[in-house]
Amino acid sequence: MSKKNKKFSSVEIIDIGSKGLSIAKSDDGIVLMVKKGVPGDVVDIETYRKKKNYYLGNITKYHSKSDLRTKAECEHFGTCGGCKWQDVLYDAQTNLKERKIKYAVQHVFDNCKIEPIIKCENQYFYRNKLEFSFTDNRWLTNEEISNSGTDLERRGVGFHISGMWDKVVDINKCHLQPDPSNQIRLSVKDFAIKNNISFHNSRSKKGLLRGIMIRNTSLDQFMVIIQFFENDINSIELILNHLKNKFKQLSSIQYIINNKGNDSIYDQKINLFHGEEYIEEMIGELKFKIFPKSFFQTNTNQTIKLYQVVKDLANLKGNEIVYDLYSGLGTITQFLAKEASKVIGIESIGEAVISARESAVYNNINNVEFEAGDMKKIFTSEFISKHGNPDVIITDPPRDGMHKDVIKEILNLDTKTIVYVSCNPSTQCRDLELLKVKYDIHKTQPVDMFPHTDHVENIVLLKLKD
Ligand SMILES: C[S@@+](CC[C@H](N)C(=O)[O-])C[C@H]1O[C@@H](n2cnc3c(N)ncnc32)[C@H](O)[C@@H]1O
Repeated sequence: MSKKNKKFSSVEIIDIGSKGLSIAKSDDGIVLMVKKGVPGDVVDIETYRKKKNYYLGNITKYHSKSDLRTKAECEHFGTCGGCKWQDVLYDAQTNLKERKIKYAVQHVFDNCKIEPIIKCENQYFYRNKLEFSFTDNRWLTNEEISNSGTDLERRGVGFHISGMWDKVVDINKCHLQPDPSNQIRLSVKDFAIKNNISFHNSRSKKGLLRGIMIRNTSLDQFMVIIQFFENDINSIELILNHLKNKFKQLSSIQYIINNKGNDSIYDQKINLFHGEEYIEEMIGELKFKIFPKSFFQTNTNQTIKLYQVVKDLANLKGNEIVYDLYSGLGTITQFLAKEASKVIGIESIGEAVISARESAVYNNINNVEFEAGDMKKIFTSEFISKHGNPDVIITDPPRDGMHKDVIKEILNLDTKTIVYVSCNPSTQCRDLELLKVKYDIHKTQPVDMFPHTDHVENIVLLKLKD
């Protein structure tokens, strides 16, 4: 057996670590990091890679499962790539998320206090956006293969198996998005099968039906965007008319003809078939238009709580200049506008900025400004001279965190208050390590936006040192 391949039997999972991995320790003190483990599971592990202080491995057998586990709600649990913690009790999930934040942040600021995580009231059907792929060669479970042999319907629509770009699990009922999300997806599938409309095969690059995105809002508006591989307008109209007639609540039906290698829609032309190009969402009293390509937080109820924490921590008195870095549709920008003298949003996606400007007009807010472009190029001393020195900075970067030039610029400004919102504690803590030279941490507030996953959002309040 090579140095990296070792076998360990009956070891207990003792904790969770970063990147969705859990931690076990062998009798002789070797640290093992594995997927699919929950503290309390007793398992066999085979390692496949040696790192400096630990081994990466796979669980090959469960001897007993942790008391933190429960029965998963979803029939696709284990096969589908999503909701990996659905068989973990919700209180245990949030406890593990709190611990994850604690380890990460206390690594930078010793002994800093972590507030109890803000839990999610709806642990199911909490998402406002899902994307599914069509396939003519759906994934078969072992049970299906042994029960039915080869005579099975292979067309399907669902989620990719984790890490496998060409393997799709056909989903019967997904517990993530409210109705009629499931009915819409299944209805397109059944209609296409009945009418002999072809499903895509990502290896052979053939087949018309490629993907479906469903978005909804708390105003009960639904948007459907279907991706087709070719411009077969007769079949396209047949499907879209079927949807339009069957689901009266669809206020927007759009489609894309995408024959490139991947199914990302950001460089694609979107065609309107029915209704409006957007759907509308409320955040408190504010209304936002959501277009197919718009970034919008996917759990609306938790987003309102998250923004409220940001507002409380910013503690605005009315005379401040606030910068909202990575502003998306300008939701935080506008949420804070009433309490500040002026709020300036910066965002790389031009369409989002246009939409942010429009929604500010729509919401009757006239003390916000938005600039489009890459943060590290835009957020410069010239920009600050033009817009004024910020009293408060809100930053909500993507998973990669902030570019080091952006942090350098922040450190030049001596802004008294920074509220840092992050969906990735590792990059947030990397950035905190750099900000620490001038800032102290005053509050750490985790928020659970995504039950049944190991993702956790974290908000940190930083104050300039005296
Ligand atoms: C986590 S989202 C936050 C959006 C917004 N604050 C909200 O609550 O909806 C991060 C945003 O950063 C934008 N972004 C990513 N990289 C960027 C960059 N280099 N410069 C400016 N904006 C960027 C993304 O387009 C996205 O809208």
